[in-house]
Amino acid sequence: MTTHTTHTAGDQEPPPRRSFLKTIWAFLGVIAAGEFLWIVSGFLKPGKKTSQTALPETLIEAGKLEDFPIGSVTAFVRGRFYLSRLEDGGVLAISRKCTHLGCTVPWDDEEKKFICPCHASAFDMAGDVISPPAPRPLDIHPVSIENGVITVNTSRTIRRNTLDASQIAYA
Ligand code: FES
Repeated sequence: MTTHTTHTAGDQEPPPRRSFLKTIWAFLGVIAAGEFLWIVSGFLKPGKKTSQTALPETLIEAGKLEDFPIGSVTAFVRGRFYLSRLEDGGVLAISRKCTHLGCTVPWDDEEKKFICPCHASAFDMAGDVISPPAPRPLDIHPVSIENGVITVNTSRTIRRNTLDASQIAYA
């Protein structure tokens, strides 16, 4: 007696070669999808933020408040201003440009005043006029004091006609 085994279509194993090709295609598909995602994420990633985190050229960190003694005037070549620490502890960043005709005004530490070499205008340590012909106080730049550190914004120059307390920065 002989037995016959019949196979239905559902029982048939796919030929090994076809199955291998399917696996290869699936594998290549996964790699292609991965590469695509990597390229897209490269476009969407934000750029480096160095320009945002670094201080701009015009924003000058002058130093710690405690490093400027009461009653002192310190010249800053970069930014072209004087940092004046007033008798009451307040701080002013004073432009070195004379308000008469624009000469550079040096600080005279013995006289305790700014004396213009061009026409002898004199200013006190807050930049207020002591002697004409200068018509108004020396200009100032905005000052901020955060965590004891003084920063001067030289991109802004404030023209003032009189000296008043609102111009002075305090810790
Ligand atoms: S430019 Fe300073 S007094 Fe004339």
